[in-house]
Amino acid sequence: MSALLEVGGLTVKHGGLIALDDVSLTVAEGQVVGLIGPNGAGKTTFIDALTGFTAPARGHVHFEGRDLTDAPPHERSLAGLVRTFQSLELFDDLSVRDNLLVAAHPPTLWSTITDLFWPKSHDSAETHGILELLDLLPIADRLPTELSNGERHVVALGRALVSSPKLLLLDEPAAGLDPSETAELTERLRRLPEIGTSVLVVDHDMSLILGVCDEVHVLDFGRLVASGPPEAIRTDPTVIAAYLGRSA
Ligand SMILES: Nc1ncnc2c1ncn2[C@@H]1O[C@H](COP(=O)(O)OP(=O)(O)O)[C@@H](O)[C@H]1O
Ligand SMILES: [Mg+2]
Repeated sequence: MSALLEVGGLTVKHGGLIALDDVSLTVAEGQVVGLIGPNGAGKTTFIDALTGFTAPARGHVHFEGRDLTDAPPHERSLAGLVRTFQSLELFDDLSVRDNLLVAAHPPTLWSTITDLFWPKSHDSAETHGILELLDLLPIADRLPTELSNGERHVVALGRALVSSPKLLLLDEPAAGLDPSETAELTERLRRLPEIGTSVLVVDHDMSLILGVCDEVHVLDFGRLVASGPPEAIRTDPTVIAAYLGRSA
């Protein structure tokens, strides 16, 4: 199976601090891959380096065989490498459906012509599919302010999906959610490969990642200290030490 994302030897320095040290990993098409590690381990730095928000000192980022190491952020998102931010960025005065519609990719010549004859037909079909996949249809006409925190997180996920990303990068998507809301979000993340979106999800909370991922990588002080299926990671002594060592 050829890799969708192939990262090799990625090293990032923040001044004198080595935030990422020689990190290599791959994500195959259709996979949900997790990256866990204690606070300060370098997880957000890794997403920043993948999306072009921070420049690596060494290493490479290949996406669908293309070298994107030095590409600007917009070029990466056009290539299908898309991130979410911790702030949900929802429009409170727009319905859930309209929040997805306004996030849809910029119009093309063809969509402008079809919109002229069939207003919004193109985006509506696309948006409808995402609302359906994420079980958002029953609340599609509500405002974000009328929803639970868990539901708002699912809407934010829907917004990230309207551009049909090939790989979605999620930075602590369950931050601020209670355990049952986390479980519901997790279950929906599992569905994304069905619509052609692979996932790289980052969190410090092991339970989210171990429950949803095909493969898990563990980062500690900027280095990968373990990689493998969730069952192996759960009992890995190095991983347990990384977490216990920093719990204070
Ligand atoms: N812009 C920055 N300038 C200097 N140091 C930074 C910057 N961003 C992150 N760091 C440092 O890099 C390390 C990794 O941070 P980060 O990637 O945010 O970790 P995580 O997301 O795993 O909590 C931390 O020691 C953090 O303090
Ligand atoms: Mg972070």
